[in-house]
Amino acid sequence: MTSEKASNITLREMVREDLTAVYALENQIFSDPWPLRSFEEIFDEDSWQALIAESEGRLIGYACFLDIAGEAHIANIAVSSEFRRKSVAKRLLDRILLFAQDSRCEMIILEVRPSNRPALEFYKKAGFAELYRKPNYYTSPKEDALVMVLWLNAGTDGD
Ligand SMILES: CC(C)(COP(=O)(O)OP(=O)(O)OC[C@H]1O[C@@H](n2cnc3c(N)ncnc32)[C@H](O)[C@@H]1OP(=O)(O)O)[C@@H](O)C(=O)NCCC(=O)NCCS
Repeated sequence: MTSEKASNITLREMVREDLTAVYALENQIFSDPWPLRSFEEIFDEDSWQALIAESEGRLIGYACFLDIAGEAHIANIAVSSEFRRKSVAKRLLDRILLFAQDSRCEMIILEVRPSNRPALEFYKKAGFAELYRKPNYYTSPKEDALVMVLWLNAGTDGD
């Protein structure tokens, strides 16, 4: 269901031409941003999928994930600060869920900083559960990662 809160916001697949703007937003939002080169290098990988959210032609959010052997791995979801709490990330995640279900992924998995309360609340609200910690996973600042998982109950046994 599309939220009224985000009715002027549209989603589409990311194209290579979006990468400069995506990197600018990544750099604004994260203390340990991915380098532009990393986005460019992974962009054509078969397992790589990426979406963007726009408002009036302006990039306001994005989500990138990998589909590897039945696991959808969320690399990042980010929303520009002035567009938060408008269900933009929820809509991006809903698209990832559809893709993961179509691809018969058994789970969606991700890492998150335990100090990142908005993200933790967001993922918990979406049904993700904490799985385990990866010690000293992050740098700038150094921090453990919390690995979270959402099991997908496809209910398609026997298809
Ligand atoms: C985490 C993030 C992606 C959430 O994006 P968003 O578009 O604001 O999230 P949504 O509006 O879709 O939120 C959906 C639900 O998640 C929960 N939630 C989201 N942000 C929250 C916050 N700051 N505090 C508490 N709950 C929150 C709420 O339950 C919310 O529903 P509600 O607004 O109806 O109460 C955004 O805060 C962000 O970009 N943070 C910086 C980047 C980041 O940390 N990404 C995740 C790294 S893995």
